[in-house]
Amino acid sequence: MNKEIKIAVSESYSVNVGRDNFELILKYLDKNGHRSKVAIITDDNVKKLHLNKLTTIFRENKVDYFVYSILPGEKSKNLTTIAEIMDFLASNKMSRSDMVIAFGGGVVGDIAGFAASIYLRGIDYIQIPTTLLSAVDSSVGGKTGVDLKKGKNLVGTFKQPKSVICNLNTFNTLSKEEFNNGIFECIKYGVLFDEDYFNIFLEEDFDYDSIKLSLVVEKAIEFKAKVVIEDEFDYGKRRLLNLGHTFGHGIEQASNYNIKHGFAVGKGIEIISQISYQRGKLKNKDLQKILLAIKKYNMADFVNFGFSEVLDYVLVDKKIFNGKITMIIPEKIGKCYLEEMDLQEVKELYRNWQREF
Ligand SMILES: NC(=O)c1ccc[n+]([C@@H]2O[C@H](COP(=O)([O-])OP(=O)(O)OC[C@H]3O[C@@H](n4cnc5c(N)ncnc54)[C@H](O)[C@@H]3O)[C@@H](O)[C@H]2O)c1
Repeated sequence: MNKEIKIAVSESYSVNVGRDNFELILKYLDKNGHRSKVAIITDDNVKKLHLNKLTTIFRENKVDYFVYSILPGEKSKNLTTIAEIMDFLASNKMSRSDMVIAFGGGVVGDIAGFAASIYLRGIDYIQIPTTLLSAVDSSVGGKTGVDLKKGKNLVGTFKQPKSVICNLNTFNTLSKEEFNNGIFECIKYGVLFDEDYFNIFLEEDFDYDSIKLSLVVEKAIEFKAKVVIEDEFDYGKRRLLNLGHTFGHGIEQASNYNIKHGFAVGKGIEIISQISYQRGKLKNKDLQKILLAIKKYNMADFVNFGFSEVLDYVLVDKKIFNGKITMIIPEKIGKCYLEEMDLQEVKELYRNWQREF
């Protein structure tokens, strides 16, 4: 069963969650009697595993398509790749009535979305997320961008896709590590908004075979949609989605990106939950549940990890505004609040956390 979720932002679009639903893309390619050409941006892994299913549909329906494949992983997410994609789009005479397709995980999605937003001052694009993380998070909401040497996601735009088509069958080829990496963004939504949703991850060993997979993905997209609709450009409520990310980004950077985003965010949620408990906000019962869920799906090795270094990155985070960081603090499972803290306070809380845990 396909489910359609509407994202009612400045330029509304819908997310389709289903199986074998690639064909839906065809309805976005006819514009005023013109059949769009398609530039598929993907990476070498996704190309090998899934591209043929998509291009078969284009061949059968006489859609002209071109494929640009990047080396997999965060290291490709830079301005050099963007310059290469600009040349690729221009060489294939892509016009403003044509379509870019982001076919892959969050790295491909962020790169292709950014490329689409600046080529010819913006052409349409569609997201086809192929990792759990990109399905439940990065493909929805219109944040695009690449990294600079100085840090992650420092260059980018807001550009909503024309549509998001999430085919759950593509997850079957994800490694356990990549799948679990995405689970942490789902656990995040549970801690933020809904204890019943959170409990799913404790009650079963959640994986791509779970009969709850589509429910988990659909609800995650609905949680994200609600926040994005209220605060499309990230000035207020959308910042809740950064739960676990302040320390999480610090962990990712201190590990030189060897610890994946989801696992780093999981550890970040653990740290901020323990800090909330130390400050008398979060009850021990909820803290223990959060710790249990994180332990269950974590696959990163934190045993010899240099936690002291994390603070160096946290204190230069790009989200610092007027010398303050907005921390997202769990009050109970299903409810968090925003608190602005100055850097000295964050430093003290982190040091106290290190002493006790
Ligand atoms: N724009 C946003 O709002 C937003 C939100 C969260 C994260 N992000 C970004 O998303 C990125 C992380 O996304 P990710 O975890 O999807 O990483 P990714 O795109 O690097 O994918 C992870 C790995 O899985 C492989 N892969 C993808 N689909 C596969 C499939 N179906 N089967 C087998 N292998 C597959 C990829 O080739 C890659 O090796 C980061 O750059 C992060 O900054 C963006």
